[in-house]
Amino acid sequence: MPLEEPVAVARALARHGFNADREAVTLLANAPAPGAAIENAIDAAPPGTTRLTAADVRPAIEATTPETSGRGSGATAGAGADSEASADSGVDSVPDSPPEPTVDSEADSVADSAVDPATDSDTDPVADSDTDPATDPASDSGTGIADRPDTTDAPVAGNRGAASVDGGTATADSSRAATADSGNGATDGGSGGSGSTTASDSGPPVDAQEGTGAPHPPAPSVSSETADDSPPESDSEPENSGTAPVETKGSSAGERDPSSRSIDISGDITGHSTGTGRYEDFVAVFRDRYERLSRHLKGRVNHRSTDALGGAGGGGEAGLVGMVAEINSTKSGHWMLDLEDPRGTFPCLVMKDKEIADHVNELLLDEVIAVEGSVSGDGSILFVDDLHFPDVPRTYRPNTADRPVQAALISDVHVGSQEFLADAWSRFADWLHTEEAAQVEYLCIAGDMVEGVGIYPDQDEELDIADIYDQYEAFAEYLKEVPGDVEIIMIPGNHDAVRLAEPQPGFDDDLREIMSAHDPRIVGNPATVTIEGVNVLMYHGVSLDEVIAELPDEKASYDEPHLPMYQLLKKRHVAPQFGGHTRLAPEEKDYLVMDEVPDVFHTGHVHKFGYGKYRNVLAVNTGCWQAQTAFQKSVNIDPDTAYAPVVDLHRLDKPDPMAIYDFN
Ligand SMILES: [Fe+2]
Repeated sequence: MPLEEPVAVARALARHGFNADREAVTLLANAPAPGAAIENAIDAAPPGTTRLTAADVRPAIEATTPETSGRGSGATAGAGADSEASADSGVDSVPDSPPEPTVDSEADSVADSAVDPATDSDTDPVADSDTDPATDPASDSGTGIADRPDTTDAPVAGNRGAASVDGGTATADSSRAATADSGNGATDGGSGGSGSTTASDSGPPVDAQEGTGAPHPPAPSVSSETADDSPPESDSEPENSGTAPVETKGSSAGERDPSSRSIDISGDITGHSTGTGRYEDFVAVFRDRYERLSRHLKGRVNHRSTDALGGAGGGGEAGLVGMVAEINSTKSGHWMLDLEDPRGTFPCLVMKDKEIADHVNELLLDEVIAVEGSVSGDGSILFVDDLHFPDVPRTYRPNTADRPVQAALISDVHVGSQEFLADAWSRFADWLHTEEAAQVEYLCIAGDMVEGVGIYPDQDEELDIADIYDQYEAFAEYLKEVPGDVEIIMIPGNHDAVRLAEPQPGFDDDLREIMSAHDPRIVGNPATVTIEGVNVLMYHGVSLDEVIAELPDEKASYDEPHLPMYQLLKKRHVAPQFGGHTRLAPEEKDYLVMDEVPDVFHTGHVHKFGYGKYRNVLAVNTGCWQAQTAFQKSVNIDPDTAYAPVVDLHRLDKPDPMAIYDFN
């Protein structure tokens, strides 16, 4: 890769332990003798400096310019042999593949996805779902807020051997084609129809699998939960869409004002973990979950506690806010829900002919809901007439940034895997140095920086780097290709070297040190990152496996990973069900509750790209940077690779706040 490519300059600097702002990189790339200019800039860097600015590199470039007089002449010896200098700089000889990121706008696929599969009025789930909840392997988990005898699953320490699942489905090739043709109709394989054609093939993943999914290729699609969520308009392609990136000449970098930036973190477990895994800790965290989620529900029903419902002698209308402790179907096809509150458990019957029966098959154990209806004469059962989720208010409107500024969302980089897409990553990093990306001032990475070790059976046969620390060293090098003036925020995933149980704290000091050159903001999983007033809920997404396994395909599938994200928003909890794939570390509070409605919900993990709006919340699952592994091939997983959705934080309230760049 010639040094005129910004990413090659960034890589050359990285080999000397330096990172640089976009403007500095651009200046170096455009220098008459980039190699010599790099050498000079490194030599002249102030002691202790690891990030070069434009001010740092300008004198170095002048010193290598033949026209300059005096002191420059010495350096021109290097300039005259710039290609040699390039070699000296250790620049990779990556085949020169011109970066041609294509642009897709959310709007493009909306036209093909007018029907929202997550709409409340879906097909009869009772008829569709013949699953007997009583056989649910997770059904023994109960809730624990009143009395939970079973704590044997108490996962606290990071047992990576029993890692959960990274799923993945559609074919990258198909998605790329769809994106490339994104002007019209390219997404006809997209959401609704296509999503259901082969979804039945997607048997739920099991422990120690790296994923699962259906072998069909949905193009990225958008759907909105309600009709009032206006789909993006089709005239929304950003400038330069579909063209090769335009290298910045340095002017755009000068227009960025770092003083306008702000990042606030909330809901981060890092440094606050107190759980010991005792029974009392589990009771405490479930009670906290109940208390906080019930606040969203008690105003909607006339709540009576479980002991009051049974003790009043029966009869009359009543409501109950409870945690789902058990779901069973009756011989007649009705549903019996056991709801639990701090006073006990009460049976609630949902008749199959009720409209609300459609919602029963989207219930997960341990989530908090409200029901209302009539109590039987003997006070033994509640006949449910209505059912409520904590949910996102229908009137919700997202916060926006005060200025035009963008955030790129990615996840699942998987450095260390033989299938890590280094060239695609470099095309992405190179693009970040261009004028087209001038407004991209934030990069959010939602977990799985590295491939990890011992994550699934025989994983070592697919590793390019066998040592976990070496994997992070390599990841740090790739991170240095990102412009130094891009703020990076990252959370861990299930492949990363932190405890597996959620909430996961951010990386420890050793790993932070390895990744320190770019000074990323490292937070826990999950965490809410407020970027210039916009709340981005970052969650790696392990619970998506569980939601997809438990719910019918039309409500949650690997083909459309934003649909299970909608379910999590509806439940206002990122991992409601305890006792299955998702491991929970009990803390003094439930960090997995969504107290506030996020403006953007960003997940990864399933290696599928999907996005949409749920009641004006932008939900994005961001695919991966790892091609299909042998293991994934053996279980028919086709990941969506090398997409970089870019969210315009200033226009988040508009129909088309996101553009999609394809670096395949
Ligand atoms: Fe992953």
